[in-house]
Amino acid sequence: MRKEYLIAGNWKMFKTGAESREFVQALARDFTAAPGLTVAVFPPYTALEAVRGLDPKVRIGAQNLFYKENGAFTGEISPLMLRDLAEYVLVGHSERRQIFHESDEDVNLKLLAALQFGLKPVFCVGETLSERESGRTMDRIQGQLDKGLAGVNEEDWARITVAYEPIWAIGTGRNATPGQAQDVHHAIRSWLNEKAPGNRVKVLYGGSVKPDNSLELLAQEDIFGVLVGGASLKVESFSAIIHSGLTLLNA
Ligand code: PGA
Repeated sequence: MRKEYLIAGNWKMFKTGAESREFVQALARDFTAAPGLTVAVFPPYTALEAVRGLDPKVRIGAQNLFYKENGAFTGEISPLMLRDLAEYVLVGHSERRQIFHESDEDVNLKLLAALQFGLKPVFCVGETLSERESGRTMDRIQGQLDKGLAGVNEEDWARITVAYEPIWAIGTGRNATPGQAQDVHHAIRSWLNEKAPGNRVKVLYGGSVKPDNSLELLAQEDIFGVLVGGASLKVESFSAIIHSGLTLLNA
């Protein structure tokens, strides 16, 4: 598969609308568009309107969605509401799974709802530290893929991105080695090739990605981008990661 990168910034519960707007404008000044490079930021819901259509080089994603179109679901946001504001949407981020108790079934409903409304889901999987230490990483990831990606129509694979984020590496400063990441990415690629032959689903790595490890991670054969949390909150560090991708695309 020819290399293409999606460099995505998950801002979590940070940044107001005004801060998000300023960030996107500054980021867009810091890099030039290139074939094979897609850059996206995932601000909180409340900032989506402020960044909409600001710069075509910086695509926009939401961090979550509910799976119903509308109804009595206080506090929730539907894919129908999001589709005019965002192109991408994170589905099944480990913080949603762990803190907000989203099950594999919830995640699957969200993924299918996102697809139904024309959004591009970034579907997150990842193992805990105890799963890794007891040799259950691949079982866990395969279970998440089987359940979370159940029922996807053939023509919808093209809109899906998978993000592998080992939970023990998120926000801990302890990232997977490029080799550890590549091993899991390779297994995910094999799973995808079996379920959807000929698909071009990108698989991103996430978990303590920083300017100083991004080049080596992105250089791995089966890594097609990164999902960046902490280091995406500053223009300087996020743009340095984008430049790692550009360096590899131009090599
Ligand atoms: P981190 O977060 O880069 O701060 O580890 C990644 C994520 O949660 O997507």
